[in-house]
Amino acid sequence: MKRFDDVAERVPGQTPETSRLSGTGSGTLGDGICFGGDYNPEQWPRETWAEDVELMVRAGVNLVTVGVFSWSTIEPSPGERRFEWLDEVLDLLHGSGIAVDLATPTASPPPWLGIRYPETLPVDRDGVRLAAGSRNHYSPASVVYREHARALAVDLARRYAKHPAVRLWHVGNEYGELDYGDEAAREFRGWLQRRYGSIEELNDAWGTAVWSQGYGSFDEVLPPRKAPYLINPAQSLDFRRYSSDQLLTCFREQRDAIRAAGATQPITTNFMGFFPPVDYWSWAGEVDVIADDQYPDPASPHAASDTALVQDLMRSLGDGRPWLLMEQAIGAVSWRKHNLPRSVDEARLNSLQAVARGADGVCFFQWRQARTGPERFHSALLPHAGADTEVFRGAERLGADLKRLRPVAGERVDARVGILFDWPSWWAAEEPARPTERHSTLEQLRRWYRVLWRHGVPADVVRPGADLRGYHVVLVPHSYLLEPRAADRLREAVSRSAQVVVGAFSGVADANAGILQGRFPVLLRDLVGVSGEEWMALPDEPTPLSLDAGWDAAPRGEHSASVLGERLRSDGADVLATFGDGPLAGHPAVTRNRHGAGAAWYLGAVVSDALLAAVLEAALHDAGIENALGGRVRPGKQLPDGLEVVRRGPALFLLNHGRDTAELELPATLHDLMTNERIDRATALAPGTALVLIEGRTT
Ligand code: GAL
Repeated sequence: MKRFDDVAERVPGQTPETSRLSGTGSGTLGDGICFGGDYNPEQWPRETWAEDVELMVRAGVNLVTVGVFSWSTIEPSPGERRFEWLDEVLDLLHGSGIAVDLATPTASPPPWLGIRYPETLPVDRDGVRLAAGSRNHYSPASVVYREHARALAVDLARRYAKHPAVRLWHVGNEYGELDYGDEAAREFRGWLQRRYGSIEELNDAWGTAVWSQGYGSFDEVLPPRKAPYLINPAQSLDFRRYSSDQLLTCFREQRDAIRAAGATQPITTNFMGFFPPVDYWSWAGEVDVIADDQYPDPASPHAASDTALVQDLMRSLGDGRPWLLMEQAIGAVSWRKHNLPRSVDEARLNSLQAVARGADGVCFFQWRQARTGPERFHSALLPHAGADTEVFRGAERLGADLKRLRPVAGERVDARVGILFDWPSWWAAEEPARPTERHSTLEQLRRWYRVLWRHGVPADVVRPGADLRGYHVVLVPHSYLLEPRAADRLREAVSRSAQVVVGAFSGVADANAGILQGRFPVLLRDLVGVSGEEWMALPDEPTPLSLDAGWDAAPRGEHSASVLGERLRSDGADVLATFGDGPLAGHPAVTRNRHGAGAAWYLGAVVSDALLAAVLEAALHDAGIENALGGRVRPGKQLPDGLEVVRRGPALFLLNHGRDTAELELPATLHDLMTNERIDRATALAPGTALVLIEGRTT
């Protein structure tokens, strides 16, 4: 049996072999589920450290991230090293059995670096060089910054590689910095040269004949800095690709330095869900453990399903392996305009939700609430008011609950539905000057996913072009860029009897954001059996759609399209809904093209929620998809409002995010892992509560 601890033995930068960790309770980083958070002892007098550790033990904390922002403490002047405080902290934690995720503090250089070497500071697209005084003030392209960061990583690793407290390495923090300065221009040009080989190729790929942009050499090319009017979309797209790769270079340099200095523990960095600056598909294979920071907005009515989607993404990035929830808030954050807190019950629910969807660790920002600095009102496990608080008691309860979830650690979530998502497509689709800026990749992805969530059906998020065997349903909410390989995979899926559903404005452009020529979707026309000639913004007033009388699963009620529609004709597909009005009147809006037992559905518009749900439910039903309770998905038969149901290995997670008690029928009489109570087949779940059910008692 392979554990994540073994990952350290492998060659840096290669994805560990997929392994099934079944029912052993061996999680990502050792036994059971990790629980803890960011611990910043350098921000506190030494006297508090003993109390911190004592309270951590009381709360069941077993993993803390140390040192993320400690560069100026470790290196107060160039080349100096002050590690004694860190020695003491690691020994103290280890003495109490608390493992450490040791961070390289390279996301926030000390002020002296920018003063001595102004070129280490990033330049924004308006040409403004950003100052120190906050954090993240570094240019990922700066050779001097990278050299200082690497040197620090080497010294940290030399000193602590063998420290028994260190279980994980955490490089930098939330990589996402952009830089448009001169060093970035140099790196960008090198990147372009490697991608295109010659300036003629670049001119061709970018279509620089438009607006007289033809380049004579790579030296003339700039990052997309502030310009009088719209920027070439291909230039923007490549700059985003380059920026993600440049950040990855920073990560790799430190990771490889840590490894070379003798560290054998897994190495990671913290992702940020659907974070625009970084293409996590290209990063995923570079980290040993996928880790993510999640700060859902409690004010959003869709927070629970949107978070579930992010969690499914994290599991998918790691090919199904357990991941780590590295940061979340136990109460309020402090960086929104109006920081509605979540209750400790909600924080508990979201923590269990992460475990349900494959996390083997649940950590928070941060352990002790900051007394000073910009995050003084951000919640923490140990608030300003101390341990005699609701929040701390909530943390203790959560620690105890997570301890009971040991049998779930290492287990897998089995998804039969794949949902396509890719960063370059998202980037290209969000460029300005398109039919409508109201159409958003992420919004469509979330809407489609919500239908699955309401049925208790998990999904893997899939990179276009990846193998689709294993998926009985494949959803393509909005793949604006579609490459031939991805189109081939969809065709193969349908020929293997899968149901594939393709959303509007997909398959529009090639890898360089050039519009594919011919009736669209050019690469999928044969598959979907419809073709189109025009995309258009739809009026504010929803456009009515009429449903075909022959569609057996047609939903009741009135349906409409809004935002964006397409002028389509059927080339053989069944037309299930038609535009009833406006410039597209009489044209197909929803179609299905059967291929043996499989089918390719196509949506030629952004259709209203009920119709979208009906289409996706029909596809799920036709594919025989089951929900986590073991029942086949039935159109119109959603779970009770707000109830989330997920199966992970032997455990069935029931999470009630709704406002009402949820009544449901279980497949058998089960036991709650957290309380060991017997739960009858017909059960009721109060709002804000959760059950983690398995067969048989645990103790
Ligand atoms: C994260 C960051 C933490 C802390 C937290 C506050 O983005 O990594 O250091 O700032 O946000 O929500």
